[in-house]
Amino acid sequence: MKILLIFGTRPEAIKLAPILRSIKEKEDMEVIVCVSAQHRQLLDQVLTVFDIEPDYDLDIMIPNQSLFHITGSILEKIGPLLRKERPDIVVVQGDAQTAFVGALAAYYEQIPVAHVEAGLRTDDKYSPFPEEINRRLVDQIADLLFAPTEHALDNLLAEGISSEQIFVVGNTEIDALYFIRGHVQPVQRFTFPERVILVTAHRRENFSSGLSSICQSLREIARRNKDVRIVYSVHPNPNVQREVRKRLAKIERITLLDPPDYASFVHLMAASYLILTDSGGIQEAGPALDIPVLVLRDKTERMEGIYTGAAKLIGTDPERIIAETENLLRDRLTYTAMAQADNPYGDGTAAKRIIEILQARVH
Ligand code: UD1
Repeated sequence: MKILLIFGTRPEAIKLAPILRSIKEKEDMEVIVCVSAQHRQLLDQVLTVFDIEPDYDLDIMIPNQSLFHITGSILEKIGPLLRKERPDIVVVQGDAQTAFVGALAAYYEQIPVAHVEAGLRTDDKYSPFPEEINRRLVDQIADLLFAPTEHALDNLLAEGISSEQIFVVGNTEIDALYFIRGHVQPVQRFTFPERVILVTAHRRENFSSGLSSICQSLREIARRNKDVRIVYSVHPNPNVQREVRKRLAKIERITLLDPPDYASFVHLMAASYLILTDSGGIQEAGPALDIPVLVLRDKTERMEGIYTGAAKLIGTDPERIIAETENLLRDRLTYTAMAQADNPYGDGTAAKRIIEILQARVH
């Protein structure tokens, strides 16, 4: 069986790496890796950590790229590659542009598609933008849908997708996290005397006012809480860099980091007191590491963590961010309840299950 994995961003690489590792242990499976390089440095960091050598690198990233550029350039380059390789199945992950275009291209060539992390929904097509529509379209195209949770399964069933195509397997983010913690030493180790509030925020829908509100609240939290260090891992997107560096450079008790490699980032997450983020994967990692997560978005497709109490959806209003953060800094009982809440995203065996299903279903 010949499997083609297509991915392009940091989170896709992290979440497909466990599948790639498991496939390589199977003698009856041949794997071809195609990266779009929608991300360059962030992707290459993950490829290094997981020791992945792509067979094809479309190398499409340009500064401040538009959705038109990403979609058009991947689609253009991937057609000839699919015709040459003719895989039995194309595997894509999540909701980034590369996943959508990879699935669309495979469909154009009438090659079956498997979608890892199927069924996540906010039911708002502009939040997250354009990810909500990307994942809906991929799920329409996909032949095999790997849902991380029962909640995601229900979303897919409600859209009329046949239960015979859907498998609840857990999220491969947790597989990647456990693998890294068990096997890879961080390149950088971050130690601060204060309690660390780790921050990431990069989403397109937060570019207009959300990011400046987030920065404003971080300044205020740093000013009012002398025993706290805010560590912000700043995404290389120029829109994010400009706003965050303009508002938060050289502020006492705020450290701005270039994104660390994944192993160092996992180490940093585990050493944090609290995480503020608009990222998807970090909403899954926090509960698995027993670190409370405040979600800097109005809507999330990851409601499972909100339901178990491991994460809280707080939006981007500065007063709310400050109040929720300070509550967790001061109220030990609330903090402990969040830290000890169940991780609903899986037990680290999702990749193994996915491989077994591929072996049974793809010929
Ligand atoms: C993309 C995904 C988003 C995902 C995020 C994770 C889409 C539409 N968005 O958003 O779903 O949550 O990745 O990070 O697919 N850049 C670099 N180096 C890098 C990566 C990015 O310089 O390694 C800069 C480039 O200027 C690039 C810009 O960031 O043009 C934006 O990258 P892009 O992939 O378009 O969007 P992200 O915001 O990273």
